[in-house]
Amino acid sequence: MIKKAILPVAGFGTRLLPASKAIPKEMISIIDRPAIDYVVQEAIDAGIEHIILVTHSSKTSIEDYFDCHAELEQHLLNKDKPELLQGLRVIPPHVTMSSVRQGRALGLGHAIYAARHCLAPNEGFAVLLPDVLIDAPYSNLKQMIDAYSVNQIAQIMVEPVDPQRVDQYGIVATDQALTPGQSAFIHSMIEKPAVDQAPSNLAVVGRYVLPHDILHILANTPAGQGGEIQLTDAIVQLDQIQAYHLHGQSFDCGHPAGYFSATLHYAKQHPTLGHELCELIKNA
Ligand code: G1P
Repeated sequence: MIKKAILPVAGFGTRLLPASKAIPKEMISIIDRPAIDYVVQEAIDAGIEHIILVTHSSKTSIEDYFDCHAELEQHLLNKDKPELLQGLRVIPPHVTMSSVRQGRALGLGHAIYAARHCLAPNEGFAVLLPDVLIDAPYSNLKQMIDAYSVNQIAQIMVEPVDPQRVDQYGIVATDQALTPGQSAFIHSMIEKPAVDQAPSNLAVVGRYVLPHDILHILANTPAGQGGEIQLTDAIVQLDQIQAYHLHGQSFDCGHPAGYFSATLHYAKQHPTLGHELCELIKNA
């Protein structure tokens, strides 16, 4: 069973500057929680019990956020604020978080490879890219993990994008048409193709379930698109790969408009602030 997930969070977040100059982009909040919290909760909902952050020396506030803050907890206890205290405990006791460093920004493939010592021999794992938030009626990642447990075939989450924007994503072509919640075999996959060279408009969303073998492949994968070691270039070397079509909505929070769109979306469904925020949005 897949119990570990790698979250690569070492990136500088240049598309979110200047907001990301002094705090990690993953710590910019969507309503009242940092974006990374949504991604970690998604992993936990899918049954993940060990989160491995691949991080950078400038981004220690991410680890601090998920750590226990004993003085603050005591302070809230003394002030009799149990509801605030509850909100501070972002990780349940059965979940562990570790971190490894990626000192140089050499690409997503390089980041995943940096986490290799946290995995047992032959242990498969999930990857969640923190730029993407997913809101769905059920855990799509759990579906992928369940499929992997049966067939040990790599699972890559995809969804259609505007054909003019295929050059911003990994793009796959499948052996049959897909509808949300379905899977199909991938017969080609390419990282950020030119608009006129893309095999389809099915884009990799940022959720993967991968076999351990991918680490051996990454060890020998040269730099590709953008001069970086690309995870996509390693995945295409696996014998079999399946695409899983997202059933739900994704938000690309790697740029300001995506953040804003996610903020509007999550505002409407916030359990305590939702009503007030909806009124504000209506009157804006
Ligand atoms: C990464 C992946 C790409 C994927 C994208 C999803 O690219 O390399 O295949 O489609 O995330 O957000 P990045 O956006 O980090 O350049």
